[in-house]
Amino acid sequence: MMENMLMTRIVDTVSREPNDASQRNWAADDRSVARSGVEIDRLVKFWDRIAERYSKRPVADEASYQKKLAKTREYFAPTMEVLEIGCGTGSTAIAHAPHVAHIRATDISPKMIEIARAKAEAAAVSNVDFEVSSIEDLQVPDGTQDAVLALSILHLLEDEKAVIAKVHRMLKPGGVFVTSTACLRDAWKYVAVMALLGPLGRRLGLMPAVVKVFTLDALVAALTNAGFDIAYQWRPAPDKAAFIVAKKPIGASA
Ligand SMILES: C[S@@+](CC[C@H](N)C(=O)[O-])C[C@H]1O[C@@H](n2cnc3c(N)ncnc32)[C@H](O)[C@@H]1O
Repeated sequence: MMENMLMTRIVDTVSREPNDASQRNWAADDRSVARSGVEIDRLVKFWDRIAERYSKRPVADEASYQKKLAKTREYFAPTMEVLEIGCGTGSTAIAHAPHVAHIRATDISPKMIEIARAKAEAAAVSNVDFEVSSIEDLQVPDGTQDAVLALSILHLLEDEKAVIAKVHRMLKPGGVFVTSTACLRDAWKYVAVMALLGPLGRRLGLMPAVVKVFTLDALVAALTNAGFDIAYQWRPAPDKAAFIVAKKPIGASA
């Protein structure tokens, strides 16, 4: 009961490899965001544990979700290479698949990816490759992506600014970064929930290890400081996720 309440409030607020992390090389390159194997292991276990339920839960606000899908497609072209980080069980990648050439959809949770692959197979979608990887560990050559999607994930990262900078590097000039992010500091009820239940929820493993509480203004500033132009911004209500399309300027170096 408590677990459901916390997950609904914090995880869903927003929208909706070898698995032994200690054996893995999380160092990636010198620009990645380092985290210890133990922390990664906890993170993977949390998302693996909720993956099945997450995949079965209906989208919290279907009209807003559909609007975000439609708005994203305004920036797509059939030749595009798209990367999704934190793709969860793959619904959004599968929905966008007919509109682009290829999607590389990644997530830290092997269980989420297992469910995503099964969904893609059932939907006969063949231009999405699902891959287990943390964003911190992900290797993407600079200046190669037409679009990067990060939906309901930026507030769950230890260093979202480093990830935003990493995404900027991997995009081609003119490429777009599409995000939907819970900006919890703009909604007092979530600030209260986090202050009251956050430490306990984390200790009991009922909440992700990291839930950032920042404002929409801070998120926009992080994007523009990284070199992005804000092409589109929409939030259905102050307590709903903020949808942003940020563009890497044409003149930017790759
Ligand atoms: C709230 S869910 C969002 C899933 C999907 N994008 C959606 O909108 O339904 C967050 C997802 O991010 C993944 N995740 C969390 N931390 C991550 C990290 N550091 N790197 C990659 N994926 C991560 C989780 O496994 C989970 O699937």
